[in-house]
Amino acid sequence: MRVESAADRLRVQADSNRTTVDEWTRCGDHREQVTAAVLTALAARPTGHRKFLVLGAGNLNDLDARVVLDAASSMFLLDVDDAGLRRALTRHGLQRDERLEVVGADLLGDPCSTAPLSELRGSFDVVLSAGVLTQLFATVAARYDDPTDLAMHTALLRTRAEHLDQMMKLLRPGGHGLLVVDVVASVTCPELIYPAASPSLAEVLDDCIRRGNFFTGTNPYAIQQAVLDSGLTDCEISDPWIWRIGNTARLTCLLHFQTGTAPELVSRATQGRRSRGGSSAE
Ligand SMILES: C[S@@+](CC[C@H](N)C(=O)[O-])C[C@H]1O[C@@H](n2cnc3c(N)ncnc32)[C@H](O)[C@@H]1O
Repeated sequence: MRVESAADRLRVQADSNRTTVDEWTRCGDHREQVTAAVLTALAARPTGHRKFLVLGAGNLNDLDARVVLDAASSMFLLDVDDAGLRRALTRHGLQRDERLEVVGADLLGDPCSTAPLSELRGSFDVVLSAGVLTQLFATVAARYDDPTDLAMHTALLRTRAEHLDQMMKLLRPGGHGLLVVDVVASVTCPELIYPAASPSLAEVLDDCIRRGNFFTGTNPYAIQQAVLDSGLTDCEISDPWIWRIGNTARLTCLLHFQTGTAPELVSRATQGRRSRGGSSAE
């Protein structure tokens, strides 16, 4: 097993962000989906209660930051690569906007380096995990030499559980969690490069899940189940879309959950279980 330092993690992510910095146009469809979901979640909160946090904001290619900022009461952008994030804000002409705060933090860091996260606990109306889950998985998987190692598999599922827990803890009661997850890439699902009208992307997704053709830990049905098993929330899965990033096309969807207020918890845990019939394996 390899051990990497926090400095290694930052360098890898900063290099990766530099290679995708100019993908604003390519990310157009993806940005539309993510921005629309964020605006809907913000609109569901009362005016003045629209404090918004993005986890893995990076190059800010997947969010129409100006539009979202106008709908939010304040916006916090978190990334391990805070220099990349500041570069993105300059590109959008938002570097001096007082409604915005940049948080440099490592979501996989030890409790000391995640101090900013504990300080932010319970303060957000909407938290968006912006495609960061598979980046966390890539970091964790790189610690193992053998991709079939059962310990790696366990570590990835633990990372997912911890990320969901982080999101829930950052939310206020009644707050909305939005988790964007890229499930499978064109490397193993080539039909994503030039998708046909039929089968639909929802059918492609379900077929990939049935055949086990997805990144470990990204099965949206399993994530939905994990959220519901936490006993705290409703959780819905969006229709999938294609996110073009780097040299891949990725089948992506968004999970939306809402934290309950205390008296609602028990009843909510048994409601809202909606599935398109997908398997919940991992
Ligand atoms: C695939 S990008 C998401 C796309 C990004 N929102 C954009 O529009 O460019 C994932 C982001 O997560 C960040 N990231 C990866 N690992 C992280 C970690 N351990 N803690 C915090 N951020 C991390 C990366 O720096 C990167 O900006």
